[in-house]
Amino acid sequence: MKRSSLRRLLAVRRLPALLVGITIAAAASAASAGDASGSKPAPLAGQAVYEALCYGCHRDGLGGAPKFGDAKAWQPRIAQGYDVLVGHAVKGFAGKSGTMPPRGGGSYSDEEVARAVAYMANHAGASFPQSSTLANRSQHGAHDRSIAAGSPGP
Ligand code: HEC
Repeated sequence: MKRSSLRRLLAVRRLPALLVGITIAAAASAASAGDASGSKPAPLAGQAVYEALCYGCHRDGLGGAPKFGDAKAWQPRIAQGYDVLVGHAVKGFAGKSGTMPPRGGGSYSDEEVARAVAYMANHAGASFPQSSTLANRSQHGAHDRSIAAGSPGP
């Protein structure tokens, strides 16, 4: 009786330790993914750029911007392919519904803007890599092919 309750206690106790282990492993891999670019500061994640800038228009659809999470609004845009979307976001784009200013009017790097594009598009049904094509070309050869093979859509 005493023994079995002790065993149960031990089993329950092990669970939080396991969770902490998983969290540390995830944090470590996120950290090492960030600083592969040498001496330059690691680029911000897509979500950080979105929350710092892009959401100003894209959260509520200001000026005709496709809304965050609105799969219907994003679907035809996503179909253009990641490279086209990133190009429009970096260089600016005047479409049917409004004007997307170059880099959203900010001064984030190509890499950061591209990550923000992936972040927004992926919340509207796409599955783009969470870093830009530039980063993929230099770091992950395997991703190259899938981007190169991605047709501009129907
Ligand atoms: C000042 C408002 C504003 C800000 C800030 C803004 N956008 Fe936009 N964005 C727009 C508008 C408006 C459109 C729609 C243009 C159209 O299709 O007529 C758009 C469209 C887009 C598109 C779709 C382009 C296409 O080819 O359909 C992408 C991708 C995009 N924005 C990314 C971003 C990113 C990334 C940021 C932050 C770095 C950002 N935007 C910040 C207004 C904004």
